[in-house]
Amino acid sequence: MTKIKLDQRFSPYQMPTTIIGSIVDEKPNFMTCTWVSRLNRTPPTWMASINVKHYTMEGIRKNRIFSINFPSADIIKETDYIGITSGRIYDKSKFFELFYGETKAPMIKDCTINIELSVKDIIELPDHFIVIGTAVNTYIDEKYLTDGKPDVKKMNPVLYFGIEGHPSYWSVGDKLADAFKLGKEYKK
Ligand SMILES: Cc1cc2nc3c(=O)[nH]c(=O)nc-3n(C[C@H](O)[C@H](O)[C@H](O)COP(=O)(O)O)c2cc1C
Repeated sequence: MTKIKLDQRFSPYQMPTTIIGSIVDEKPNFMTCTWVSRLNRTPPTWMASINVKHYTMEGIRKNRIFSINFPSADIIKETDYIGITSGRIYDKSKFFELFYGETKAPMIKDCTINIELSVKDIIELPDHFIVIGTAVNTYIDEKYLTDGKPDVKKMNPVLYFGIEGHPSYWSVGDKLADAFKLGKEYKK
């Protein structure tokens, strides 16, 4: 076995590609975000790590709400565009068709799953804020369901593989097994 040291800024392949929605200067704004994770089960709590310089942060700090939207591969070009264009320079408020739930967080109709959240806490790191949010509601477009359950193939989510200098988007492959079940077949 030969283990070599990797650039420590490497993001492993399981990063989901998401779009953070916020209200900044009274208008919807969106940015691509791959540093996103679930943190707690009940209440459902999430985190998004957002650069201190991003326009998005001004709105999240002021309004204390945001959304996490999961794009399918169908809108990958739009997703990349809003990840390389700041709301300070380009008005992204009309870029997507939107809907709203109980909070003022703007959500994207064309995304598969949408979560509206209220901010619970913001942790300051040297160049990123860890924005911790409690989910208020989670939505899925019914066209992505099979037998009432989210269907990964239909959703066709986008994964991010963040090798420094060569970042890329990937789709998911085939289902391998049922989680929390396969291990029961294990015999020493
Ligand atoms: C694939 C991809 C992933 C990104 N992930 C993050 C992230 O996790 N955190 C972050 O702060 N910025 C991330 N960005 C950068 C922001 O999306 C980008 O700087 C955006 O223009 C900020 O928009 P705003 O200034 O309107 O808030 C990512 C961009 C791309 C293309």
